[in-house]
Amino acid sequence: MGRRRKRGAWQVAGPRGSTGRDICKGWYVSLEEARVTETLDTVRQLLPTDAYTTDAWFAREQRELFGRVWNFAGMREDLSKPGDYLCVQAGVFPLVLIQGDDGELRAFHNLCRHRGSRLLEGAGNVGPAVRCFYHGWTYALDGSLQGVPQEESQFPGLDKSACGLHPASVGAWRNLLFVHPEPDAEPLTDWLADFPQRFGPHDPEALVEVSSVRYRFRANWKIVVENFIDGYHFFHLHSVSLGNGDFVRQKWLPAGRHWTFKRPMKEGTRVEGRLLPVIPDCGPQFGVDAHVLFPNLGLYGTATSWLTFHVVPVAPDLSHVDIRTRAMPEALARLRPERERPVLTDDVIVSASGPIASYMSPSPKVHPLESNDVMAEDIYACEAVQKGMQSPRYQVGPMSRDYERALMWYQQNVLDFVPLNSA
Ligand code: FES
Ligand SMILES: [Fe+2]
Repeated sequence: MGRRRKRGAWQVAGPRGSTGRDICKGWYVSLEEARVTETLDTVRQLLPTDAYTTDAWFAREQRELFGRVWNFAGMREDLSKPGDYLCVQAGVFPLVLIQGDDGELRAFHNLCRHRGSRLLEGAGNVGPAVRCFYHGWTYALDGSLQGVPQEESQFPGLDKSACGLHPASVGAWRNLLFVHPEPDAEPLTDWLADFPQRFGPHDPEALVEVSSVRYRFRANWKIVVENFIDGYHFFHLHSVSLGNGDFVRQKWLPAGRHWTFKRPMKEGTRVEGRLLPVIPDCGPQFGVDAHVLFPNLGLYGTATSWLTFHVVPVAPDLSHVDIRTRAMPEALARLRPERERPVLTDDVIVSASGPIASYMSPSPKVHPLESNDVMAEDIYACEAVQKGMQSPRYQVGPMSRDYERALMWYQQNVLDFVPLNSA
């Protein structure tokens, strides 16, 4: 799988076994150029409403989409010592990352080879070996089966070498970790296509984490991603909260199945960098780089910060968004934890951590549309769309030919994995 350049168009191959299609043809252009070649009715909703509301579609996505792609797992710093582990759900597949004695990071299916119990939960350190709580089978950190209680009397002739943990794949790009349920997954570099070249000036390895927050969106995960790539709503919903953005000069380009986006600041504006220092590689007039690694990881960089925006599907109408923000190391000395304590609201459902955990949190006392808080506005908008979908009259109308075209492109990518005709 991956992107191939063919006769000047960007060709995106489908998942294994499906035919690739040229969905990016003519789109490798700026919005201004695109306006000349595209007509209004080419931009339209491709996914049916069921794709956002039903258990059946949700189950198919878990199996046919998330079970077949590289899934974001976390940051490299999440695992640093032998025995450190991190559980990750890749669609229907529970996986676990384990750091070996040799420093190697390995991914396994999080299932005991005896009776199939889930082995580990959450994150932590297993010590020198993984021991199943149920009947005590023990695995080395490289996944091989080490010990079976009462082996001689109860399992005569057992070939332990055939009972190691099922391997999965792990990949790293910069300090971001990804897992794939298949042990022979396509290389992560192929999956990323030319995304790394389009990523921009941020260096997440040179930045430190200053906050980690989980938000709850009572909306389908695709509504959240579509909101992230919707260039039309900036002009309206965020006209004040993102008031220094030059929305007209926004630009997006596909990179394989991924999406890259740049929005400059309005002429003459610059950030002060009082709370977080300006990142030297970006400068005070840097606007926003907001990318999406298909299917569900947003990467959002500004003049002073860079964050991962991980949209986790929980149910057809419920998503978690895990946001981990990084900034220049000097930020930690500037911040005053006692003043910047997290403001936990109904939307922030997991204790936020880090000295500036509150800085994006909406205040519970203010209506989201009067909050001037981008997150509060976006949560409100996504939930409003999900509510609209409950009406029998719900239907997507005409869509912006320039600023919502990315939604159609994104939906086509979803359909390549979860096609309509095999529902
Ligand atoms: S299920 Fe793990 S040891 Fe039995
Ligand atoms: Fe938004």
